[in-house]
Amino acid sequence: MSLLFVCVTALRVCVGGCRGLTQLAELPETHQILRQTCRDYADRELTPVAAQLDKEHTYPRKQIQELGAMGVMAMEVPEELGGAGMDYLAYSLAMEEISRGCASTGVVVSVNNSLYIGPVLKFGSEKQKKEWITPFTTGEKVGCFALSEPGNGSDAGAASTVARLDGDEWVLNGTKAWITNSWDASATVVFATTDKSLKHKGISAFLVPMPHPGLSLGKKEDKLGIRASSTANIILEDCRVPVDNMLGPRGAGFKIAMQTLDSGRIGIAAQALGIAQASLDCAADYAHKRKAFGAPIGKLQAVQFKLADMALAVESARLLTWKAALLRDSKKPYIKEAAMAKLAASEAATLCAHQAIQILGGMGYVTDMPAERHYRDARITEIYEGTSEIQRLVIAGQVLKEYQL
Ligand code: CAA
Repeated sequence: MSLLFVCVTALRVCVGGCRGLTQLAELPETHQILRQTCRDYADRELTPVAAQLDKEHTYPRKQIQELGAMGVMAMEVPEELGGAGMDYLAYSLAMEEISRGCASTGVVVSVNNSLYIGPVLKFGSEKQKKEWITPFTTGEKVGCFALSEPGNGSDAGAASTVARLDGDEWVLNGTKAWITNSWDASATVVFATTDKSLKHKGISAFLVPMPHPGLSLGKKEDKLGIRASSTANIILEDCRVPVDNMLGPRGAGFKIAMQTLDSGRIGIAAQALGIAQASLDCAADYAHKRKAFGAPIGKLQAVQFKLADMALAVESARLLTWKAALLRDSKKPYIKEAAMAKLAASEAATLCAHQAIQILGGMGYVTDMPAERHYRDARITEIYEGTSEIQRLVIAGQVLKEYQL
């Protein structure tokens, strides 16, 4: 029986249960099966190779294809388009387990699902969905999302990449920066302004195949963490695409980007949660095995307090992540909750990875143990798909709206 079959069957049985989930203390049994399936896969195929992939900066091609066969590369895509037809809670569970094994693999999965497929599924025409989603469901091809630029990351509305209409083609010029998956991608969503005078209302979204004439890649960035995923600039020089490649209406690009990031942030929260959980696993295991002052160090209150803070941060972040996913699944507003989940989970990842190294001492600082990789991988979760400062801005904006007189 294929893993995809197990996952889809599990989800179908449990959809009703999840919709009515009022307490987040425990998942319905069927989501637990899905979670266990992904956990077993991660334990078997990701954890053992994560250090090597990281060290050699190797794209996890085999694993991404296997995850594609499981349905994990297109979790929310309906089955008729080649996806798994699951919900966002299921996606969050899968993301956490995969990232617990290998955070680099986690971000490849996340960008394909939420930043690339997500906007095409939501804003694409039926023809665009068939052409630009179905080939990206199997793990053979992955997509990316080109919003940030060298001159603006947090200020996404200041896009300087331009799109000029020439007959029945759009001509794109500009540079996009920090694009996850770029070196391994077969398509990208590009945000460019079709009318600068309209500021963010002049931004539109375009689908661009990769490789493509007029599109080139900058150097592969040599990063602190998530080193098995690629990050680079995408350079557009008179890059022509047919008018049909515009995604959504002209001028809707900024809203498409913002709504995409709202969903994407739940995926990154789950990735951060995976890193936090892996750090806690590693530290708690070590606390049992390592002896000092005549007993396992887990007997020392100094270590116990750290483990308690780590477990608290993980559990709080997990509940926020599930809540954001459940709100999205039930089509309720979730902008604030997605930002809260991403903020809490990324800060939990940083805290847990930091404390894991402290508990492991010297062993935490060397590559023999995974703690140093978790520490490096955790850091980016506070930066990409909106920094922690941007999440606070988003949360505050929503809170002020709620209290509007
Ligand atoms: N959903 C729908 N619409 C939204 C929205 C949302 N979440 N957020 C804002 N908008 C709308 C507003 O309603 C407003 O609409 P009108 O013009 O019709 O009134 C419009 O967008 C402008 O809103 P703001 O004035 O609030 O916009 P702003 O310029 O002040 O920016 C921001 C808001 C929250 C700071 C936004 O720019 C932002 O999220 N920045 C961070 C960008 C980001 O996360 N970048 C990461 C890139 S992806 C990545 O990390 C790389 C990777 O590959 C992983």
